[in-house]
Amino acid sequence: MKHRDLLGMEDLERADIERILETANHMREVGERDVKKVPTLRGRTVVNLFFEASTRTRASFEIAGKRLSADVVNFSPSSSSLKKSESILDTARTLDAMDPDCVIVRHSVAGVPKCIADVLSAPVINAGDGAHEHPTQALLDMLTVQQEKGRIDGLTVTIVGDIAHSRVARSNIYGFRRMGAEVRVAAPPTMIPADVETLGVKAYTSLREALEGADVVMALRIQNERLVGSWFPSVREYSATFGLDRARLRFAKDDAIVMHPGPVNRGVELSHELTDDRSSVILDQVRNGVAIRMAVLYLFAGRQRGRAAAEETRP
Ligand code: CP
Repeated sequence: MKHRDLLGMEDLERADIERILETANHMREVGERDVKKVPTLRGRTVVNLFFEASTRTRASFEIAGKRLSADVVNFSPSSSSLKKSESILDTARTLDAMDPDCVIVRHSVAGVPKCIADVLSAPVINAGDGAHEHPTQALLDMLTVQQEKGRIDGLTVTIVGDIAHSRVARSNIYGFRRMGAEVRVAAPPTMIPADVETLGVKAYTSLREALEGADVVMALRIQNERLVGSWFPSVREYSATFGLDRARLRFAKDDAIVMHPGPVNRGVELSHELTDDRSSVILDQVRNGVAIRMAVLYLFAGRQRGRAAAEETRP
C-alpha cells in the first residue's frame, strides 16, 4: 500500500481498493476453515483504541487480529488514565512507546485518527471518526456488493438517510464512485449537504425517483447521538417518507439488495420485514467485515518495519 495509515477512502486509488478486496477474498477463505487461524501476524501487536461505542467494528478487528495470530490489546477509555486527565495524544504516545504494529482508532470527533497518526510511529487505521469517514465499513460494503453482483463497475447504488451526519455515506460515496458505480443519495433536504453533488453523486428528495433502477439500496441509521438540531419533524414522519419497506423496494430493480451498516433502528429506516428479508445482506456485511479487517491488518500491520517503513509517506 502506498499510504502508511488508512484514514479514509478519499485517499485510496482504485488499485488500492482492488488490492484490499482481493486480499479480503483470500481472508474469507480462512474464515470458512474448521480451524480459523493462520500464523501471518504472529509476533505483531494490534491495539484497539475505541473512544466511542461499537459492536461490529471493534469485535471484527479483534477477531481479525486473532485469526491472523496477532496479539490484540483492547484499550478501554473508561478504565484508563484518561480518567485522570491524561490527554488523548499522551495516551496515544504512551501506547506507541510499547511498540504496537498497528493502532485502530474510533472517536466521535472527526480528525482524531489523523491527529493520532501524526504523533505515532505505528500505522493508524480509522475505525470511524465523527461524521467524517469509516473506510473499513465502505470496503466491507464493496466486498459484499462484489460478492452479490459479481462487479461494482456500472451498478447504481442508492444511499438513503442522514447523509449529512454519516461517515458511512461519505466513505461509500468515495469508494463506490472510484470503483465505477453511479451513486445516488436520498434524504429530506436538511439531511443532504449543500455541496454533496461535488462528490459526483446525484441528490434526490423523492425516494421513489432515487430508487428507480437501483441495484443496491443502502439505508443509513438515524443517528440520534449526532442530531443536535431539528432535522426532520418526527421519527414517524421520517419513516413515513424515507423508511424502506417491501412495497417501496419494488421501485428498485427486481434483484436489488438491501444493505445497512448497523445497528438498525427497526421500523424507522428499515421495516422489520425488510431487515430480515431475502433481499437483505446485512449479516453478510457483518461477516465480510472480518475478512476486510484481516486484509487491512495484513496490508498495514504486516509490513516490514524499520528503514523501509520510515521512508513511507503519510497521506
Ligand atoms: N457499522 C458500524 O460501525 O457498527 P458499530 O458501531 O457496531 O461498530
